[in-house]
Amino acid sequence: MDVFILAIESSCDETSIAIVKNGKEVISLVIASQMDTHALYGGVVPEIASRMHTEAITMVLDEALKKANMTIDEMSAIAVTYKPGLTGSLMVGIEAAKTIALMYDKPLIGVNHLIGHIYANNIDDKMEFPMLALIVSGGHTELLVMEDDYKFLKLGETLDDAIGECFDKVARVLGLKYPGGPNVERLAKTGNCTYDLPQPVMDNTYNFSYSGLKSAVINLVHNSKQRGEEIRKCDLACSFQSVAIDELKRKVEKAFLETGIKRLVIAGGVSANGYLKEEMQKLCDKYDAKLLIPKLLYCTDNAAMIGAAAYPLYLKGEFSDFSLNASSVGDI
Ligand code: KG4
Ligand code: ZN
Repeated sequence: MDVFILAIESSCDETSIAIVKNGKEVISLVIASQMDTHALYGGVVPEIASRMHTEAITMVLDEALKKANMTIDEMSAIAVTYKPGLTGSLMVGIEAAKTIALMYDKPLIGVNHLIGHIYANNIDDKMEFPMLALIVSGGHTELLVMEDDYKFLKLGETLDDAIGECFDKVARVLGLKYPGGPNVERLAKTGNCTYDLPQPVMDNTYNFSYSGLKSAVINLVHNSKQRGEEIRKCDLACSFQSVAIDELKRKVEKAFLETGIKRLVIAGGVSANGYLKEEMQKLCDKYDAKLLIPKLLYCTDNAAMIGAAAYPLYLKGEFSDFSLNASSVGDI
């Protein structure tokens, strides 16, 4: 029998609800973005985010059902992101999910947002195991081995800033609007990598580090301002992007060599970056490895990925009870 999951995502600044069939087919997906509001403040303001989720969620639900031409009665389960994210934002989605589950007597499935990003790769393609999973989002940078559905072995993670956070800070110091990542990428396309920025520490682990690179860019901009020198913003964006992605490539290459695994999936907002895609494709070609990256719509936050990640839990009967609570932290 077909499994229809109603999935809710509200961990940051997108209120999103999707109906996903059998973990793969997106029947409907609605995303109400708060981006323009937060851009006024240069970043996400948590109090505003949770209020806007509260205002939007009922309409988003109605629209998702209308687009699918389905009713809640037809759903097999209600899935919701419960960690990691902004606590107040997560709570709006969780309360909505609990209410629907209780009223319609449906099982509730709590989903980890990062696992959601990984399973976005299972929507238009098929994830095969074992595989390497690289998470590159606003709050996380992690490299994992997945032996099977929900079987994770973490190889390494960032010791300080996440790569997306670093893109956003660099964007800010270059005077670009929030969210920074896409704007840095756009600017980098028009420049050349002429600035000599430090490579993150070359240690022999799978951990990442981005705070040194971030500080180097900030210092360079400040020092130039003090000296009255003009910064070539497009060249600096290009140089930064190249060093930031290089750090990812080094660790993935090490994992290809040491694990012998020939599959790589990339997950999280920064996977929307075209330069990252090109460079990872070259690396995968070199090692004869298969690369999966979600299509653009599923790279950044959306509820379809939560429906995809909830499906294996549904099959295993791993349901949450009504004590499900929001958590700001939540590694894999
Ligand atoms: O996964 P995501 O939508 O939210 C989190 O779970 O954090 O990721 C958001 C991050 C932001 O830091 C944003 O600047 C970055 O992804 N991002 C990009 C691009 N698109 C989004 N970074 C670089 N290049 C992009 N094209
Ligand atoms: Zn995300």
